[in-house]
Amino acid sequence: MILPSTSKVNKNGHLEIGGCDLALLAANYGTPLFVYDEDTLRGQCRLYKNSFLGLKSNSEVIYASKAFVCLGICQLVNNEGLSIDVSSAGELYTALEAGFSPDKIYFHGNNKTDEELALAVDNKVGIIVVDSFMELSRLKELLNNRGVKQKIYLRITPGIKASTHEYIQTGQEDSKFGFSLGGAATLAVKKALENNCFNLSGLHAHIGSQIFATRSFSKAVEVIMEFAKTLNEKTGFVMRELDIGGGLGIKYHADDEPSTVEEYAKVISKAVTKQANRLNLQEPKILVEPGRSIVGTAGVTLYTVGTIKEIKGIRTFVSVDGGMSDNLRPMLYDAKYEALLANKAKAKASQKVTIAGKHCESGDVLIKDAMLPEVEMGDILCTPATGAYGYVMANNYNRQRKPAVVIVKDGQVKELIARESLEDLIRLDKRLKA
Ligand code: LLP
Repeated sequence: MILPSTSKVNKNGHLEIGGCDLALLAANYGTPLFVYDEDTLRGQCRLYKNSFLGLKSNSEVIYASKAFVCLGICQLVNNEGLSIDVSSAGELYTALEAGFSPDKIYFHGNNKTDEELALAVDNKVGIIVVDSFMELSRLKELLNNRGVKQKIYLRITPGIKASTHEYIQTGQEDSKFGFSLGGAATLAVKKALENNCFNLSGLHAHIGSQIFATRSFSKAVEVIMEFAKTLNEKTGFVMRELDIGGGLGIKYHADDEPSTVEEYAKVISKAVTKQANRLNLQEPKILVEPGRSIVGTAGVTLYTVGTIKEIKGIRTFVSVDGGMSDNLRPMLYDAKYEALLANKAKAKASQKVTIAGKHCESGDVLIKDAMLPEVEMGDILCTPATGAYGYVMANNYNRQRKPAVVIVKDGQVKELIARESLEDLIRLDKRLKA
């Protein structure tokens, strides 16, 4: 499944999502436009909750808001009963403003500032995931100054190299994140236990993102639970909660074969039970933090086709009105996408073209060798599976205005984020006095 679950071709030969004609949405809201399908998004939240709760009553699904965050999405995820992971003051503020109960907020980050730690403590967030010795001592000071106690996890790097792009691997020892297993992590646990301003209730690990092989997750569970056993023997620490992070991959391209959410839940639950039995440990609560696999497939991007340049015998460039400013992933990770023409959804794909962005960079190419029907200026090009790490990594290169974002359901459209205006672009600029 690359397109959202409600996608279909209507009688005009146009692609429709959530009962809304994409060509009409493009005409009404302009392009580039992010369109989210509410049914797909809610469906993924429910699938995650049901898959985990069906196997383990003591489990929790936390949405990793970095994948796509704005007030409306936070409201929706909250309404579906998920908790939320934030990794900056901005994400924390958005979650709070959207009405998330602070105890359902998990705060991450390898370099939380004093301002961010204070904001988290003062707003009584549920868990702060402590990432380093320096953070542990800074947080201790902050808590002691206020005379309060904070529930924390420690982030562990389990030494697992997940098979995904190097830039989104995080579980290996050579990482800026977390405490390495063995010496550092053991010492961190001891320090956390010694100070009664901390309530150390569990451990956290996130081994990477866009991972297809569930084996990496069961291996991470095995390594952490073995570590918990050693810790228990050395320090008496009982790991009541195990947060295994996010990372389940999604299908961007016909060749991608990710695992399903159900398989992922089964593999993790089974691994926890198996290791608890083997090591004679109490089964911890299981927490997962999916981002991409909640919102990725729910979102598509619409562009208007502009200049078409044919270089005989070499390639045809089809330029669109966005590019690396709304989708950095092709440039950053060599990520592969597919494309179709939303206004010619029934036409046969007959030509191979390169979809280029409009920015002043030769590397601003969204898709090399996309198969499209006969394409003309004014066509509406749709790239599926852009719901995660698209808008949130958008930028204003060439003073491009950030796109609008809408969500559709049963023929109704709601705006989640307005399109930036030209005035917005200079709002923070200061004019020099003559
Ligand atoms: N938890 C933690 C602590 C994380 O760092 C992340 C993602 C997640 C959960 C969610 O992972 P997911 O389920 O979305 O894979 N910009 C990159 C992805 C970076 C992911 C960073 N951390 C991309 O566009 O592929």
